[in-house]
Amino acid sequence: MELIDGKFIADTIKKEIAQSVEQMVAEGKKRPHLAAILVGHDGGSETYVAHKVKACEQCGFESTLIRYEDDVTEAELLAAIQRLNEDESVDGFIVQLPLPRHISEQKIIEAIDYRKDVDGFHPINVGRMSIGLPCYLSATPAGIIELLGRYNINTKGANCVVLGRSNIVGKPVASLMMQKHPPGDATVTVCHSATKNLKEICAQADIIIAALGSPGFVKEDMVKPGAVIIDVGTTRVPDATRKSGFRLSGDVDFENVAEKCSYITPVPGGVGPMTIVSLMKNTLLAAQHAIY
Ligand code: GUN
Repeated sequence: MELIDGKFIADTIKKEIAQSVEQMVAEGKKRPHLAAILVGHDGGSETYVAHKVKACEQCGFESTLIRYEDDVTEAELLAAIQRLNEDESVDGFIVQLPLPRHISEQKIIEAIDYRKDVDGFHPINVGRMSIGLPCYLSATPAGIIELLGRYNINTKGANCVVLGRSNIVGKPVASLMMQKHPPGDATVTVCHSATKNLKEICAQADIIIAALGSPGFVKEDMVKPGAVIIDVGTTRVPDATRKSGFRLSGDVDFENVAEKCSYITPVPGGVGPMTIVSLMKNTLLAAQHAIY
């Protein structure tokens, strides 16, 4: 079994991006600029956004963090988005999800100018992705595809089982895995809470992408010997031995599955760092006006 080292690949890509940025600056162009809107103080969102800001520094980007309290109105948030849409100094921006219940996430996503939607969540980007047109790919699926490519994992004709059908991981990664060029060209099955015979379907898979947010869900008896396992899960589970009081748990029973598979992503240090680096790649593309 080989561990897929997402942290190492992400660090390598950040260095590649930083080099491109220095070249842009040497040519007299401005540094890429990512803005992030963070609402409230959810622990997970605070951590993700802090990592995104740090990654901007590592890539030589400018970053701006705009914070609102939980009681921000939808109208205030829409006005902030409008300002960012019109701000020529900002190349791309994100609104960290989830948002408080009184705010419609879909309305917020659709208010973002798709040309600045470096999360790739706007329906125009999702639609363009699904028909193979240039677009901002959403970060986690793009990170998974990048890992498969960098580890030269064969996807052509492979049976790929995606566990989970969320809009930000399951659906887009299934779409990318079936696109007509590598790393894609796979035969994709998407399983979810209503799927029958899930264990049998998984046991046929050459590649399993687990994105259901259920710690340790993928067990050894669901995995074919030699399969490739991509674990997208990052559930916080209480752990009194940690200073933070929790640890991150993946969707795969790592200890038992690792012995059986050919490649596996650890949690943390697998897909997570790749997600952030994909956002950095999209921001660089935005600054270069490479897509729109
Ligand atoms: N919440 C969890 N993942 C993401 C992400 O990739 N982007 C945003 N904006 N919010 C998230």
